[in-house]
Amino acid sequence: VKDIGNLQEFSDKLLCVAPMMAWTDRHCRTFHRLIAPHAWLYTEMIIADAICFGRTSRLLEHGDHEQPVVLQLGGNDPLILSQAALAAETNGFDAINLNVGCPSDRVRQGAFGACLMLQPKLVAECIKHMCDAVSIPVTVKCRLGVDNHASYGKLADFVGYVSEAGARLFVVHARKAILTGLSPAQNRDIPPLDYSQVRQLKSDFTSLSIVLNGGLNDTATVKEVLSWADGVMIGRAAYRNPVFLRELDAGLYPGKHRDNFQSLLNQYMAYMERELHQGTRLHEMTRHLFGLFSGLPGARQYRRYLSEHARLRDAGVETFVRACSEVERRAA
Ligand SMILES: Cc1cc2nc3c(=O)[nH]c(=O)nc-3n(C[C@H](O)[C@H](O)[C@H](O)COP(=O)(O)O)c2cc1C
Repeated sequence: VKDIGNLQEFSDKLLCVAPMMAWTDRHCRTFHRLIAPHAWLYTEMIIADAICFGRTSRLLEHGDHEQPVVLQLGGNDPLILSQAALAAETNGFDAINLNVGCPSDRVRQGAFGACLMLQPKLVAECIKHMCDAVSIPVTVKCRLGVDNHASYGKLADFVGYVSEAGARLFVVHARKAILTGLSPAQNRDIPPLDYSQVRQLKSDFTSLSIVLNGGLNDTATVKEVLSWADGVMIGRAAYRNPVFLRELDAGLYPGKHRDNFQSLLNQYMAYMERELHQGTRLHEMTRHLFGLFSGLPGARQYRRYLSEHARLRDAGVETFVRACSEVERRAA
C-alpha cells in the first residue's frame, strides 16, 4: 500500500463506497470489504415496492461479513418505504439511505429519485415514517438540485425540512441533475461539480453529518474535503481502481491489522469457491475485479483472459488464477 501521508488525522471521518446499480452487488461488496475493512458499503438502489411486494429475501441478500452495509431505497410512498425499512432492519442492515439523486427516466416516471428534491415535504414525510419504523439511522443521498430549480437556498430548505423529520446524515452528490436530455451516465459528468455548496451546507447545519460525493479520485482532494466534511463517498474511482480504495482505507485508518494483497485475493478466491458450489457463475464475481491491476504490465492481458474465459459454463477459480498469472509473468 502506497504511503499517502497523514490522512490519519481524519480517522474519525467516514469513508463510503457509493451505491451503484449493477455494480455494488453482494459479490462486489464482499471484494470491497476485503479491500477496505473500515468503509461503509452501500447496496445498489432497491425499489421499496419490490421489497414489500416482491422477492424480499432475494433482494435483501447480503452477508454478515459485508458490515457495515447500508441499504439504499428508491421510492416515494411513506408507508411502503417504512415497511421496506423495517424489512431492511430485520435483515441486519446497519442503516437505510433514501435515493433522492437518481435522474434516470425510469425512476423519474416513478416520481422518485432526483425529482423528489422538488418535494421536500414529501421527502420529510417519507423520512419521518421510516424513522418511526426503525431504530437504525435513516439517511439521504441527494444532488445540489434539479434543472433550473437548483440554488443554494433551495438545497438548504430541502436539508432543513428533511433533517427536522429525522435524517441526520446527508450524502450530497455535488452537482445538479438535469432531468431531460441527459442519460444517467451524462448526468454523472456533464453538470459541473460545485463542492462549495456542500461546504456551505456543513457550515449552516453543523450538527448534521455531511458526506461529499462526486468526482473524488485523488488523495489530495479527499484530504482537502475531509478538512471540512464529515466523510467522503467514492463511486467510480473505487470500482475501477480498487488500489485507490485500499490506499484511502489504509491512510485513514492506519495501525489496524491489514492483510497483504495476496492474502486478500486468497480470501476472495475462497469466497468464489464457496459461491461456485452454490451455483453462482464465475463471471458474476470476477467482473468486479477487472480494475485490479490497473496500470500494471499485463493488466490488459489479465482482463482479456477473464473476458474470454470467465463466462464459460464450467469456469472455476483456476480461470482467475490463470488470468492473474498474466500480470505475474510480466512482473517477474
Ligand atoms: C454504474 C453506476 C450506477 C449507479 N447507481 C446508483 C444508485 O443505484 N443509486 C445512487 O444513489 N447513485 C448511483 N450512482 C451514482 C453514484 O452513487 C455516485 O453518486 C456518482 O457516480 C458520483 O460519484 P463518483 O464521481 O465518485 O463516481 C451510480 C453510478 C454509477 C457509475
